[in-house]
Amino acid sequence: MSARRYEVVELIRRKRDGGHLSDEEIDWLVGAYASGLVPDYQMASLLMAVFFNGLDRTELGRLTSAMVASGERLDLEGLSRPTVDKHSTGGVGDKVSLVLAPLLASVGACVPQLSGRGLGHTGGTLDKLEAIPGFRSDLSPSEVRSVLERVGCVICAAGAGLAPADRKLYALRDVTGTVESIPLIASSIMSKKLAEGTAALVLDVKVGTGAFMPDLGRARELGETMVAIGTEHGLRTTALLTRMDEPLGRAVGNGVEVEESVATLSGDGPADLVELTVALGAEMASLAGLEVAESSDPGGELRAALCDGRALSVFREMVRAQTGDPDAPLPTAPHRRLVTARARGFVRSMDARQVGVAAWRLGAGRGKKEDPVSPSAGVICLRKPGEPVEAGEPVLELRADDPAPLDPAVEQLEGAVEIGPEPPAARSLVLEVIRP
Ligand code: URA
Repeated sequence: MSARRYEVVELIRRKRDGGHLSDEEIDWLVGAYASGLVPDYQMASLLMAVFFNGLDRTELGRLTSAMVASGERLDLEGLSRPTVDKHSTGGVGDKVSLVLAPLLASVGACVPQLSGRGLGHTGGTLDKLEAIPGFRSDLSPSEVRSVLERVGCVICAAGAGLAPADRKLYALRDVTGTVESIPLIASSIMSKKLAEGTAALVLDVKVGTGAFMPDLGRARELGETMVAIGTEHGLRTTALLTRMDEPLGRAVGNGVEVEESVATLSGDGPADLVELTVALGAEMASLAGLEVAESSDPGGELRAALCDGRALSVFREMVRAQTGDPDAPLPTAPHRRLVTARARGFVRSMDARQVGVAAWRLGAGRGKKEDPVSPSAGVICLRKPGEPVEAGEPVLELRADDPAPLDPAVEQLEGAVEIGPEPPAARSLVLEVIRP
């Protein structure tokens, strides 16, 4: 942090009036906030000024660098394989990380997947993996490196030492109505990925009812902003804008998503999950310069690694390296209810957000950071958009440890599924690819 002390009110006023903050001012502000010198009320006011007036390219790059510099950086230098990671802005049933990390490791990459827990209607990767008996996600930096070297991938918590200024800023944004700002989201995500030390990154920016950014234009702006930050910081970055209007795959919850991921790693995954995993994987392979990217059909090579047991074997090894038992049965929920079709026809749409909220209320998600999650609660989509259904046939199965939330969730989900005489038009999951 610069030795000079700035007048915070002056910086807030300048940003409020659309002015520019210098590199030194940003470095000082982030450091002073992280160390407690600048109080929450002043930082909250500055964040609101940024929310309304944005940040220019130099301010954005410097804010990201200052957040990275507020903590340690994972040392991934000298690993025997190229590092590449994926980050998703979060969706319903999004278990791609569980499949993609071992898949890419099985074709020669090193994947340091530092992930988070779920908050709200989108689930967290760590909550899912922690449904596996014994699985540990709080690894030290030296354990992360050792699992990466031995297995080729690791999925664990981003330690408190990585970008601590972002952690504090994010908590403040959460309670001051300043989360939904593209420069603040972009710098927050990218500071953690830069601190993680990966050499390449593919971003999965979700668009649609179940996404954090329902609107394509804003999702594109977020993707472009993150790709620009990554590139400027020497991190090879690509973003895919992908549809999140319906749950990904059939399972939404923790243990149930692990089960579906294992099926996918055994060559028996739902088509949409496989399509997205392969699209993201091909982009990662290309950024990491893997041999499979040189093939005339990288997607075909990745599909082969899902079917012939290579990716599954890496997944099992990773679970064991993180003290989990890949053979232990996953917990099952004792209480179940069905949502049935009101008419004969085709499922035309299934509101991802509603399904996510229902799974969360059934116990799969948390309302507050410190809440526990159920490893077995969730929703299974027995029919997905495009599939035929008879009147009275089950469309969704709801699972919970406690029967109380089941009836309200059935009622909520009855409005979430649209059935019509014709199937919806087939659409690709990948809407756009953003490269530097
Ligand atoms: N995820 C993050 O890590 N940061 C944000 O600001 C939003 C989503």
